[in-house]
Amino acid sequence: MKKVVFGMIAGSALMLAACGGAEEDVATSDAEAPAASVTTEASAANAEIVAVIEARQDNLKEMGASMRAISESMRSGSPDSALISEKADIIAAHSQTMPNWFPAGSGPEAGVETEALPTIWENPEGFAEAVSNFQAAAVVFQTAAASGDMAATGGALRTLGGTCGACHDDFRVDDD
Ligand code: HEC
Repeated sequence: MKKVVFGMIAGSALMLAACGGAEEDVATSDAEAPAASVTTEASAANAEIVAVIEARQDNLKEMGASMRAISESMRSGSPDSALISEKADIIAAHSQTMPNWFPAGSGPEAGVETEALPTIWENPEGFAEAVSNFQAAAVVFQTAAASGDMAATGGALRTLGGTCGACHDDFRVDDD
């Protein structure tokens, strides 16, 4: 009887594995079960990674909202130069800290919902270049916005938006 029950469980685990995903779950729970202290350490490290991912997503959302507010104001017919300059400062400040937002282990393997592609860590030079292009464009845009010259601001905004899109094309899950 025992044998039959075991056979059924093993059989259903196999079926799940065949459907995909289950194989990994089974392996993980086997590996973590015996050593409690290792598990605690691992989850503390994971909590840190989760916090890093959530913080960068908050920053990115704030950048998205800032870009939207800027574009709307630019298109409104009477651009609010103070508002645009304020949002430009937010984007420029984020661009400076962005190199710290993607530590090793904060990709899809962290088990958190993230749109960061593994290419970030597979092609670190390419990613660093995308960050650096963005930083340069953010500073140019910040300077133009502070000057109140709306023609220069509009041109710099297009360049800046291009650096967001260029990085998303290569390093972010394509969902739009
Ligand atoms: C060097 C790469 C890079 C640059 C430059 C960049 N992004 Fe992103 N962006 C990413 C990655 C990677 C993600 C996915 C992050 C995640 O899900 O953990 C992302 C996600 C986002 C999100 C979704 C955040 C969320 O979780 O809902 C928004 C909004 C966003 N970016 C806006 C922008 C804007 C606006 C700019 C330019 C002003 C920009 N990004 C520049 C790489 C970049």
